[in-house]
Amino acid sequence: MAFTHYAVLIDNLDTDVLFFQTFGTKWIVLNSLKASSELLDQRGSNYADRPRFVMFEEMGWSPTLTWLRWGPKCHLHRKVLQPPFAKSKVKQYQAHQRREALILAKGVVDNPEDWMNCVRRFSVAVVLKITYGLDVDSHTSPWIKLGEDSAEAVGKSGAPASSLMDRFPATRYLPSWLPFMERLRFAHTWRPAIQKITELPFQAALELPASVPSFVRSRMRARTAESPFTLSDIKGAAATILIAGNDTTSSTLNLLVLYLLQNPGAQRRAQAEVDSVTAGGTRLPDFADLQRLPYLNLILNETYRICPLSPLGIPHASIKDDVYQGRFIPAGTIVYPNVWAMNRDEKVYRKPELFWPERFESRDKGGWGEPLPVGNFGFGRRICIGRNLAENSLLIALAILLATTEIGWPIGEDGEEERFEAEFCFRGQAIVLPFRASFISRSEKLRDLLEQEIGGCQ
Ligand code: HEM
Repeated sequence: MAFTHYAVLIDNLDTDVLFFQTFGTKWIVLNSLKASSELLDQRGSNYADRPRFVMFEEMGWSPTLTWLRWGPKCHLHRKVLQPPFAKSKVKQYQAHQRREALILAKGVVDNPEDWMNCVRRFSVAVVLKITYGLDVDSHTSPWIKLGEDSAEAVGKSGAPASSLMDRFPATRYLPSWLPFMERLRFAHTWRPAIQKITELPFQAALELPASVPSFVRSRMRARTAESPFTLSDIKGAAATILIAGNDTTSSTLNLLVLYLLQNPGAQRRAQAEVDSVTAGGTRLPDFADLQRLPYLNLILNETYRICPLSPLGIPHASIKDDVYQGRFIPAGTIVYPNVWAMNRDEKVYRKPELFWPERFESRDKGGWGEPLPVGNFGFGRRICIGRNLAENSLLIALAILLATTEIGWPIGEDGEEERFEAEFCFRGQAIVLPFRASFISRSEKLRDLLEQEIGGCQ
């Protein structure tokens, strides 16, 4: 895999906890699941803080849970943001997720060259409706571009808390044209876009009839003059869902497409499984079918394992002094869970470079009985609040794509497959760079079913 970044380098140091210090800042990288669970889960109350993200302050984010230090504001944001995404609550979004997944499947078959935009549309549409009550009504909707901008602003801003200004906040006042102030230039370039991401959908949500349900509408209703959750908090929390929710979903779907086209055996097995629950492809999959699609779940987990979106997680920080494995950890130490190393730990995963969903199946079924990866959504008190929603989006999209299309290598003008080596970029998140793929409808009947269910949607 053409993919190098420092999580890989740290992966080779053969220690499960790496301690180091730079210019007075203490850092820990947790290379094993055991160490991550012991510190971030079991001693979670002491590792729930975040370092200060000066670069994101420079970018002009409104209060954003992901970057908030542990304290009253953070507690308030988690209290407001967690309930709508609890396992029991995300059921209410399923009809919307399924409809968007059908639009995605039709989009990739009609316009295979534009398939990554269809994936972006799906991911933005799911969270835009839930958050603001807004619809993405075409492939050229400006909301898709907004989602893309938010992905660019976060995904390419570098590993969180690692810039010069994060370590030396006073350097934010240096001229941004200085050669070593590239991250400050990046922050200033994206400032107007961040402003748009926060304001435009928020204003559009307020213009909708009051009867249209959304996160913004419910928070605006609950707001009083004394309410500690201010207007700026509502805007920030809403933007958090849009930003944290859209790129993570589309990046994972891009990876799923990549691994399915590279692994036709896995694709065929998954399709057979889907066909077995849809009476041989005579109807399209629904949420009720997902529990009977265990192999799809393994494909998703193998995708999480082999390419975690945040290879070094989002850093936590310690609140009080602590001691671990005989080492002193002062308050304020920055802690990175190295999910990349955990998911490729050869003591846990045989042939970790191999994409093989069967590895999680028990030995009597021919698998290796290996554990599902657990760190991709983070740890302890800062664990991702959107994981239930994300899994529902990914599984229904995967089920509907597999039910309706054959995913393959792109076909050249000579009619031959054009195989390629995927390229990845790591500047904050692990992102697979754009690639071509073919999506061929599995039958006319399935195409008609798609058309019938989504009607005249563009
Ligand atoms: C495949 C999809 C996703 C992945 C892999 C993912 C991964 C993560 C990770 C690694 C963290 C950091 C956890 C930690 O610090 O320990 C996180 C935090 C967060 N995620 Fe997700 N996420 C996904 C989808 C979503 C969605 C759909 C939403 C919104 C609905 C969301 C909202 C958040 C928020 C608000 C936080 C910050 C939590 C905090 O700092 O307290 N995520 N996510």
